[in-house]
Amino acid sequence: MKKTIEEHAERFSAAAAEYDDEQDSDEYLACANLVVEHADPTDEDVVLDLGTGTGAIALALAPDAKRVVGRDISEGMLEQAREKAQDAGIDNVEFGEGRFRDPNYEDEVDIVTSNFAMHHLSDEEKREAIAVIADLNPDKFVLGDVMFFGTPDPEKPFYSPEVDDPATVGTLADALTDEGFVLTAVERVHEQVGVLVAERFGDAGKRVSLDE
Ligand SMILES: C[S@@+](CC[C@H](N)C(=O)[O-])C[C@H]1O[C@@H](n2cnc3c(N)ncnc32)[C@H](O)[C@@H]1O
Repeated sequence: MKKTIEEHAERFSAAAAEYDDEQDSDEYLACANLVVEHADPTDEDVVLDLGTGTGAIALALAPDAKRVVGRDISEGMLEQAREKAQDAGIDNVEFGEGRFRDPNYEDEVDIVTSNFAMHHLSDEEKREAIAVIADLNPDKFVLGDVMFFGTPDPEKPFYSPEVDDPATVGTLADALTDEGFVLTAVERVHEQVGVLVAERFGDAGKRVSLDE
């Protein structure tokens, strides 16, 4: 992590009011749409959206889901999300403080989503976060984010090197499969942006001892 959690929270809270208007790049929109499409909840599914920000993913999924829980470190971003939920009359979504490695959520969850947020963590912290997500035992984790499919062009970073710390797709895939997930889709939006769909298939998809 190139900034502390407090520094990230402060930075996002300061920009929260303008955040939505600035998310107009083709890559961000395509990534967010793919996360929503792959999450695809039914009215029986509880969704946990980590790094929910102003609720782009959480609010898009709520009409189809049983319940959506959004977690973020920035109170300013969460406040925007709550206002949007209220304005839209969406009442099956709850926004509160929580972080990747301590989501402040312990109930049942069927689908975990995250869009454009995990790249704020170092690779070691991403691994820890993925382990925490796996412990929540979701069927599916849909991760949209800045991630490297090849060697990023240093002249054209899609991210801000001073605050962001994206991983390679290989590093993320290893961390997910080490936690018993199977990668069922890899969507390349841009050489530095993608969506990974990681699923668990009952007992067969979880780590088992060969001696059993
Ligand atoms: C670029 S915004 C993305 C917001 C939203 N997911 C979207 O698609 O528009 C990144 C969000 O991640 C949050 N964030 C950064 N570090 C975090 C952490 N360790 N745990 C939870 N949220 C974090 C920030 O506060 C910010 O709201």
